[in-house]
Amino acid sequence: MHLITLKNWSETKILKTVEDCLKIKKYPEKYRHAAGGLSLALLFQKTSTRTRCAGEVGIVQLGGHAHYLDWRTTNFGLADLSDEIRVLSAYVDIILARFLKHGDICEAGTAASVPIINGCCDRYHPTQALGDLMTIQEHLGRLEGVKVCFIGVHNNVCNSLIAAGMKVGLEVTVVAPEINPAAVDKELWSEASQKGCYKSVETDSIDGALGLQEIIAQNDVVYTDTWIDMEFFTDPDFAEERERRIKKMMPYQLNLALLKGLDCKIMHCLPAHRGYEIAGELLDDPRTIIFEQSENRLHSMKAIILELLGRL
Ligand code: CP
Ligand code: NVA
Repeated sequence: MHLITLKNWSETKILKTVEDCLKIKKYPEKYRHAAGGLSLALLFQKTSTRTRCAGEVGIVQLGGHAHYLDWRTTNFGLADLSDEIRVLSAYVDIILARFLKHGDICEAGTAASVPIINGCCDRYHPTQALGDLMTIQEHLGRLEGVKVCFIGVHNNVCNSLIAAGMKVGLEVTVVAPEINPAAVDKELWSEASQKGCYKSVETDSIDGALGLQEIIAQNDVVYTDTWIDMEFFTDPDFAEERERRIKKMMPYQLNLALLKGLDCKIMHCLPAHRGYEIAGELLDDPRTIIFEQSENRLHSMKAIILELLGRL
């Protein structure tokens, strides 16, 4: 069993994992040997702070071992991905992989004989979404019927929020004047919208900042993420597109003026780009649960590892 996308995880399994995340956070000592002697390989093509640390620290706290592999220092790039994944599967018990392309994480899943966790590709970020559900449950006391408004570029994080959310009854409203091409998943959007768990607001129909405020006011949570995925941030070929996006997206920045008087929790998967998708002042706002959300990546990663290892 893998975690490549939450689309094929059942409601029961997602809810159980969220419960386990909360138990592991509350009683970490009970799980100190839960993955005793087992090894987790982390295979990363991209940079990471949270996902990497959650995997490395998480498996050690569960009594296991972590092996971090920076893609560029391995022979993966010289060989067939499936061959190398078969080899890695013989060395370790579970693999957390952050690949650029969704197709590659799928190929790895087919080749692996141990569980594979998608640590964020260009299409989905499922471990983020499970941590987000845990955080929403923790701070709002429920998942069913919680209204979440994602404002920004429709991306991997947004897709996984929708995929997870539709299984547990979140109502996700997306305000996204831009969609990352790799994140287009009409099948997911159509299924979620038929269930009443997802709607996309036509941004041309929004009446300026006041219109945006009215939309946010109908939600319990407002969520944003980077306008530019990490692999493009310093890419000179993306420089022009980066400037175009910044100009187009600025009116959608989360800031104090926009959220004035609104009683909603503020979420962001981090890393935050202060002054772009979110004003720095909101990181310390009493409504923010961003740092709890990021801490929860550790507890939730432990639950995901144990779930996939069949140790829960
Ligand atoms: N949110 C998240 O996945 O952060 P990292 O890229 O630092 O892992
Ligand atoms: N959408 C972001 C998520 C980072 C955790 C990216 O892919 O860079």
